[in-house]
Amino acid sequence: MEPFRHHIFICTQAKPEGATSCPGNRSWQVLQALETELCEQGLDDDVQVSTCGCLGLCDDGPLMIVYPEGVWYRKIRKEDVAEIVSSHLKSGEPVSRLVWRDPQEMKAKAAKHRDQYRAMIKAKGQAGVLPDELNEMIRGFMPSRAVLTALELDLFSAVGDGCSAKEIAYAIEGDERATEMLLNALVSLKLLEKKDGTFLNTPVSARFLSASSRDNARPGLMHTAHLWNRWSTLTECVKSGTCIERDEREQKGVRDFIAAMDRNARERAAAVVKVVGVNGIRRMLDLGGGSGAYSIALAREMPNLNSEVLDQAQVIPLTQAYIRKAGLEGRITTRVGDMLRDPLGKNYDLVFVSAICHMFSAEENRRLFRRIYEALAPHGRVIIQDFILEAGKTAPRFAALFSLNMLVGTRMGSSYSEPEYSDWLQNAGFSDIRRMPLPGPAGLMIGFRN
Ligand SMILES: C[S@@+](CC[C@H](N)C(=O)[O-])C[C@H]1O[C@@H](n2cnc3c(N)ncnc32)[C@H](O)[C@@H]1O
Ligand code: FES
Repeated sequence: MEPFRHHIFICTQAKPEGATSCPGNRSWQVLQALETELCEQGLDDDVQVSTCGCLGLCDDGPLMIVYPEGVWYRKIRKEDVAEIVSSHLKSGEPVSRLVWRDPQEMKAKAAKHRDQYRAMIKAKGQAGVLPDELNEMIRGFMPSRAVLTALELDLFSAVGDGCSAKEIAYAIEGDERATEMLLNALVSLKLLEKKDGTFLNTPVSARFLSASSRDNARPGLMHTAHLWNRWSTLTECVKSGTCIERDEREQKGVRDFIAAMDRNARERAAAVVKVVGVNGIRRMLDLGGGSGAYSIALAREMPNLNSEVLDQAQVIPLTQAYIRKAGLEGRITTRVGDMLRDPLGKNYDLVFVSAICHMFSAEENRRLFRRIYEALAPHGRVIIQDFILEAGKTAPRFAALFSLNMLVGTRMGSSYSEPEYSDWLQNAGFSDIRRMPLPGPAGLMIGFRN
């Protein structure tokens, strides 16, 4: 018994640039047109669409197979999709001019493709050619650097509703030849389009990278541009064991840093609030609370909650602005302090420690957890959110790479493993210590004061 009337597979196998492939022949556009058309013709509940890997017939792509009939379509264009949906999927009549009905030819072509592929792999192996994935990893900085430069120059805002390279160069105060080179590269990355010499934003860049959009993420992403400079010191940091002194320009990036933290926090807050629960929490201390995004999210969920955000002097004015914007000045207060040295206070039901521990050394965290224990009311809890490594410290990949982010950016910071967090919590006196599942790259640890 099939749950769907039809099941369609479309090949979207990525191949190295220059190799013939279905995506190279616009299979993603066909897929998008198909999703839209199924909705418009009222079939989205009856037809399941899946992408699939190479079918070995790349020269005839994009390929699409419709089951249960097993009809193979080849060389489809997005303009063909409406007809396939109405004629085949609605009325049971396959579009014969696009159907490939020669199994012998198909088998022969697939076998030839397979043999060529194996020969190519063998030849590459014998010639000692760098594997594609390794090459891609090593050059991974190129697209990243192009986008970060575009963000630094606020180029997507300058593109607006469409401009020539000359106009954009004028707006960003750039050299015309160089600006055009960057614009062309951004077109290759599918962040811009180019029509008759005019550059246009794509729906993604218009929505997320342009100042005129409500969802403009540029302020938060500027922090990543600052990180680029830090990461370029990694070799020196590995040798010396700690970060290189920040120059004055970098120290001014606090506003961008807090904007980036706020963007992350707002994305995660709903899931965190759900996991934290609301039982019995009235007084909360948000250690290094940054923009206060978690205090704000928790206060909105719990009408009886009052929170205090403790952070550094240069951050607190920014925190206050975020709290004012949320209209929660009456319930969320702020305090300037150093969490490693200043008294934390007493009788909190919850101490929230989000994205903090990775800034400090293991010994500093051990001491901090002891002080947090003392700041809690009986049965109060500490909740830690961070990028938590597995015991071996080589996974998850994001947490392992983030550890380097701390090497280049802090004196003794690092990502830490679940056993390390458990050990510090236990050592401080906490009980019922648990890891709590959370979607995304960060995890939560919780512990209770007796
Ligand atoms: C990575 S941000 C995390 C912000 C927030 N908790 C979140 O998850 O969005 C770290 C915060 O800790 C603050 N911070 C760093 N060292 C501190 C210290 N010794 N005392 C108080 N706050 C500190 C920073 O100013 C920053 O706001
Ligand atoms: S890439 Fe689609 S069949 Fe090979």
